Amino acid sequence: MQLDSGRTVLRFIQLLPAVSASGDFPLRDLPGIGKRVDVLCRDLAACFDWGPSDWPLSQLELSALFSDQVLLTFQTPNERMPIGERGWAMVVKNALQGNPPDYVRVTQDNLESMIRNVNQPSRSQLWVLHEEGKHFRDCKIQVSGTKNSFMLGDYRGFDSRAEELVSKYGLPRISLGGTSYLSSHCVASVISKFERMVK
Ligand SMILES: C[S@@+](CC[C@H](N)C(=O)[O-])C[C@H]1O[C@@H](n2cnc3c(N)ncnc32)[C@H](O)[C@@H]1O
Repeated sequence: MQLDSGRTVLRFIQLLPAVSASGDFPLRDLPGIGKRVDVLCRDLAACFDWGPSDWPLSQLELSALFSDQVLLTFQTPNERMPIGERGWAMVVKNALQGNPPDYVRVTQDNLESMIRNVNQPSRSQLWVLHEEGKHFRDCKIQVSGTKNSFMLGDYRGFDSRAEELVSKYGLPRISLGGTSYLSSHCVASVISKFERMVK
């Protein structure tokens, strides 16, 4: 199966309920004062830099929801790709403080409305990446012509609000195995599985 021009999009959604939407974290302490915003920076590098081998960057998207209030959506950074965790952290901070580069969209949003927008069966499938979900190889995934989105918990997993909404909307939980991996590893692994599915 070939990738059909620009329509088979893979999207990742990182939930960051503990990270402030004000962008007031210092670049020197992303894990501590930044309340683990380093998780997002590594996801971004995995998604747009070292993760894909031949999946087109134009068919990747990554969103992050801060404090259930602000959604940043990253698409096609291309030649102005930030370098390393600190480079991505600077972009995130600037975007939250009102200075996004042209490949970052900033919107006011919350988890429930984001789920409603993203989860539109047959056009856009939202999966919940969860250690205890159904194994990836046993899930029926439509690759062509559908946008598949994968939602990730933060370093503690999903909070009770997220779990409540996952149940309310009957979102399927999909697993990469029983081991708990870094979310950046999950991003790279899903991209690699999709690359193999279209070969
Ligand atoms: C570092 S893990 C969460 C922390 C983990 N539950 C713990 O307490 O050690 C971050 C997120 O990556 C995703 N994740 C990690 N391992 C996974 C796996 N084996 N299968 C599917 N998703 C996984 C989940 O979305 C998880 O919430």
